[in-house]
Amino acid sequence: MAEKKIKTIGVLTSGGDAPGMNAAIRAVVRHGLARGMNVYGIKRGYTGLMEEDIKEMKASDVSDTIEKGGTVLGTARCKEMRTPEGIARAVEVCHKYGIEGLVVIGGDGSYRGAEKLANEGINVVGVPGTIDLDIACTEYTIGFDTAVNTAMEAIDKVRDTSSSHERCSIIEVMGRNAGYIALWCGIANGAEDVLLPERYDYDEQKLIDNIIDNRRRGKTHHIIINAEGVGHSASMARRIEAATGMETRATILGYMQRGGSPTCKDRVYASTMGCLAVDLLAAGKTKRVVSYCKGEFCDFDINEALAMTKEIDNYQIEICGSLSHNYYKSEAALKDEEL
Ligand code: F6P
Repeated sequence: MAEKKIKTIGVLTSGGDAPGMNAAIRAVVRHGLARGMNVYGIKRGYTGLMEEDIKEMKASDVSDTIEKGGTVLGTARCKEMRTPEGIARAVEVCHKYGIEGLVVIGGDGSYRGAEKLANEGINVVGVPGTIDLDIACTEYTIGFDTAVNTAMEAIDKVRDTSSSHERCSIIEVMGRNAGYIALWCGIANGAEDVLLPERYDYDEQKLIDNIIDNRRRGKTHHIIINAEGVGHSASMARRIEAATGMETRATILGYMQRGGSPTCKDRVYASTMGCLAVDLLAAGKTKRVVSYCKGEFCDFDINEALAMTKEIDNYQIEICGSLSHNYYKSEAALKDEEL
């Protein structure tokens, strides 16, 4: 079948916002215009598409946006896109505005909606946008780098006061189903324990024993990084304080991790992915997802991408443990026993 030459494209952001989404939007708008396309910005994700909250974009519409967090187009989680009526309405609006190609910046849920639009003849390309890094086909997602740096800096600050007061701190980071932010912070912040939704065994006694052991050996703080998916940080803190006698506080970092000015990496990678998405549409491609794998930007079939699974890195989990003072200390403790 002959590939369709695309003259008009749309861009939307969908699902949780992520720092760097604006860089991707800007890239789609300016690269699209540079390729002679008309570009529409669609507000509030698929919801805005159905409600015709759509604006034709000029290059100047994305001025002063690359350094901003959030998404200038706004975002939403749109339940209607899971219904045939919702898809039909989205297709109808695309036809009304002459939108032949659509760039969808978001996560797996957003790609599922995109795939349905592609089945109705709209060319679609997905761009991975989520702070959670939990899209299987790619080693990079827009926003993770900024979010993990934001969390790391916040945890450093909590650690300062934790040491001064000789407290245990449970710091909850984002990640409902994925522990990447927690794991990376575990390594970057030198946490004593990291609780990941993929692996946590709910053995609180093990945490308590670690704290008591560390305390006996003179450690002035104990940092536990807890992923949102494990949760219950406040009640965990109460139980740990009661069992260890060590003052224990819970800090939930929350949405501050999703905001803020994107890092250089998020700006550059998001810009590159936005341009690549436009190039794919210009080449007549559809049902693709832009990705970053093994040091290169590439793209996958959307269904292939959705069928992929991603395991949290075992080696990173292992080194997170071996670099924490617990493990080092238990070896030292063994030596002490020998003496
Ligand atoms: O964007 C990803 C994420 O931040 C997850 O870590 C979190 O579980 C979820 O979004 C929360 O999203 P919201 O509260 O905005 O629906």
